[in-house]
Amino acid sequence: MKDASEQYQRCAREVMQRADDLAVHTEGSGVLTRTYLTPMHHAAAQQLSAWMTEAGMQVRRDDAGNVIGRYEAEAGSPLGAPALVTGSHFDTVRNAGKYDGNLGILLPISCIAAWHRMGKRFPFPIEVIGFAEEEGVRFKATLLGSRAIAGTFDGKVLANLDEHGSSMRQVMQEAGFNPDRIAAAAWRPEAVSAFVEVHIEQGPLLLNENLAVGVVTAISGATRFMAELQGLAGHAGTVPMHMRRDAAMAAAEIGLYIEQRCSGQPGLVGTMGILEVPNGAANVVPGSARFSIDIRAEQDAVRIAAVEDVVAEIQRICSKRDVQIELRKTHEASSVACADQLQTQLAQAIASSGLPVRHLPSGAGHDAMAIAAIADVAMLFVRCGNGGISHHPDEIMTEEDAATAAQVFTRFVENFVA
Ligand code: GLV
Ligand code: MN
Ligand code: MN
Repeated sequence: MKDASEQYQRCAREVMQRADDLAVHTEGSGVLTRTYLTPMHHAAAQQLSAWMTEAGMQVRRDDAGNVIGRYEAEAGSPLGAPALVTGSHFDTVRNAGKYDGNLGILLPISCIAAWHRMGKRFPFPIEVIGFAEEEGVRFKATLLGSRAIAGTFDGKVLANLDEHGSSMRQVMQEAGFNPDRIAAAAWRPEAVSAFVEVHIEQGPLLLNENLAVGVVTAISGATRFMAELQGLAGHAGTVPMHMRRDAAMAAAEIGLYIEQRCSGQPGLVGTMGILEVPNGAANVVPGSARFSIDIRAEQDAVRIAAVEDVVAEIQRICSKRDVQIELRKTHEASSVACADQLQTQLAQAIASSGLPVRHLPSGAGHDAMAIAAIADVAMLFVRCGNGGISHHPDEIMTEEDAATAAQVFTRFVENFVA
């Protein structure tokens, strides 16, 4: 028992140190920003490959840029036995925390390294995937890595442009990947017995209840849009208020409507995370504006009803203000339930570690949502400190909680039944 707890503590120390080490691969000095297929993203992929190799895994990259480590089954296991698959993403939002995504790659690597040192293998292979893209920051298209593996990658997004005007297709080719082979990166459902993602909670529930870990019940669905508004620019001092076609004020009115529509209904949230006045100046009536919309809910019907209302209200506001709008849907994902039998196995791993079992939903999106197209999925949440803040550099977790997560993940794998 003492040995086992030392094993988890070693694993936790390694995970915390490596989260710091990986954060060095960033596009911004002093902040963590790592977007799809930049040189820093590639450097992080190389570092993950090195740690996977050291942990006894065979490592490969697919044409979406995913980093995949395979820990072979024990000798004598049936050839081609389906793998227990785990992992999460190594891209980040701008000015991110260190654990969102990265924890779900680093923790399994360290657990596998411990088994490798002990010469321990299982009757099934374990695959750890570092998904190359989940956040949708660079190309306004999300879950690119996991969708490639699930065979649901939408080829249309290859034409999406980054802020420098480079298309995803071009960026992939320059990084040495073949966008025409993404379909070939898809895994067969028969190759996967289950997918289990470890992730920081990114919210305050576990923290408020003084719990280190929890079992996710379902992942909220989400709909996202990008909108471009075109009004008429004019002189701020001379255009009378009633003659204005102010694109920024139309965006502001839409934003306030979204806030009002998504308030007061449990599980429903709406966000305008991008709001810009291109070439804006203090003395110019804004002629154009650009914004994003992100609407999520645990129940798909609740989200769909809110999206319909928001789209109708946008049309009303724009026509009232004589502003043109181009509204482009950039993401649509249904809510995904975690498989009951995997939730039960995670709950048993928690209970047998002497901890209370807490089930909770996930408001944030995760790679598991995409992988659900080919396999049963489950998620283990780890407590987020600092009031539960995430998508923010103040996102923190403790080494003690990493040790608890290592223990629970280890027990889950050791007792896993497909
Ligand atoms: C991913 O972090 C998301 O939920 O947007
Ligand atoms: Mn995130
Ligand atoms: Mn994440």
